[in-house]
Amino acid sequence: MLEVNQDYLKLRGSYLFSEIGKRVNAYAKANPDKKIIRLGIGDVTKPLPPVVIDALHKAVDEMASEETFRGYAPDLGYEFLRNAISDVDYKRLGCDIAPDEIFVSDGAKCDCGNIQEIFSKDAKIAVCDPVYPVYVDTNVMAGRAGVFDEAKGMWDNIIYMPCTKDNNFAPELPSEVPDVIYLCFPNNPTGSTITKDMLQVWVDYANKNGSVILYDAAYEAYISESDVPHSIYECEGARECAIELKSFSKNAGFTGLRLGYTVIPKSLVRGGTMLHSLWARRHGTKYNGAPYIVQRAGEAVYSAEGQKQIKETVGYYMNNAKVILSGLKDAGFEVSGGVNAPYIWLKTPDKMTSWDFFDHLLNNANVVGTPGVGFGASGEGYFRLTAFGKYDATLEAIERIRRM
Ligand SMILES: Cc1ncc(COP(=O)(O)O)c(C=O)c1O
Repeated sequence: MLEVNQDYLKLRGSYLFSEIGKRVNAYAKANPDKKIIRLGIGDVTKPLPPVVIDALHKAVDEMASEETFRGYAPDLGYEFLRNAISDVDYKRLGCDIAPDEIFVSDGAKCDCGNIQEIFSKDAKIAVCDPVYPVYVDTNVMAGRAGVFDEAKGMWDNIIYMPCTKDNNFAPELPSEVPDVIYLCFPNNPTGSTITKDMLQVWVDYANKNGSVILYDAAYEAYISESDVPHSIYECEGARECAIELKSFSKNAGFTGLRLGYTVIPKSLVRGGTMLHSLWARRHGTKYNGAPYIVQRAGEAVYSAEGQKQIKETVGYYMNNAKVILSGLKDAGFEVSGGVNAPYIWLKTPDKMTSWDFFDHLLNNANVVGTPGVGFGASGEGYFRLTAFGKYDATLEAIERIRRM
């Protein structure tokens, strides 16, 4: 008889956001007069920039005419978009990334979930703790995670790199050498970053040990400090060990439109094989590319006007981050993040657990955030607030927290 994929059965339930939803719904039902403010989920609230809307309209019209209609897209994505990415996101930083090393996709979640397919089943992975759950869950699905230890809240075949106050939320080099290292800076959920010098240490470690770094730079647009790298390819030797993943979701509001890309330099070779070739094969076999109209919308993001418009949106969210950060500091909370990232990571007061603080905030301020423990064992005792809300609602949420 057919057996389903047993590795899928090992997955933990999507406990975090379903439990949040359950608790918020129960509270709203019991307190219909209360106005709940949600600073929990990492979705954007501002509409798409005008340049993007114009490009979409224009591209839709092109699809209506025989002369300009487009069918299947090229495997790696349209050249007009890959050229723009190479010029604006890389050459401008002094990074040597050619357009044919860029794979256009429908977002970073799919890419960071799927990329593990090109590694062997016994590849050992390392993740930060707390972590964006996609990295772990996709490796569970692939049968790489081992057995879940309920007491520790960890998989026994994954190397966890704790990111806590003690190390300023920056992972330390693991003593057991991983094959694949997931890094995400600016970080979700902690909002932390590392300097270029610190990232160079990871690149050197990976090259020395033959590891591959999967560098998720989905929040790159939020970097405000000059010593924080915008791309891992700013580091020497990164072309030989790193894959970079980017998204149009958080800089240009594409969470519903969907667009992202992955960079695999042709000089990244393991076991005599170019990883670029494997991903190209995978892309060509399993994926038909992001829609033409969306790739045109992505191209518009790289125009001078597009760059100006996305800066304004990022500035709006970062102003929210400032409000959250300074408001919570004034109220006596221990907070971090929020300077180079749209996430604020706070220590729960009075040794409350993450979930106790969630209930406390919901009941007393009618504000929803995300319990840190939902991102991993080292997130216990922490809590995430996002800057992606509306300004007025953010201001009110912080006022309410201050009055608690
Ligand atoms: C760290 C990180 N990577 C990737 C993504 C997914 O981005 P996309 O919308 O492009 O799939 C998110 C979304 O929240 C994220 O936090």
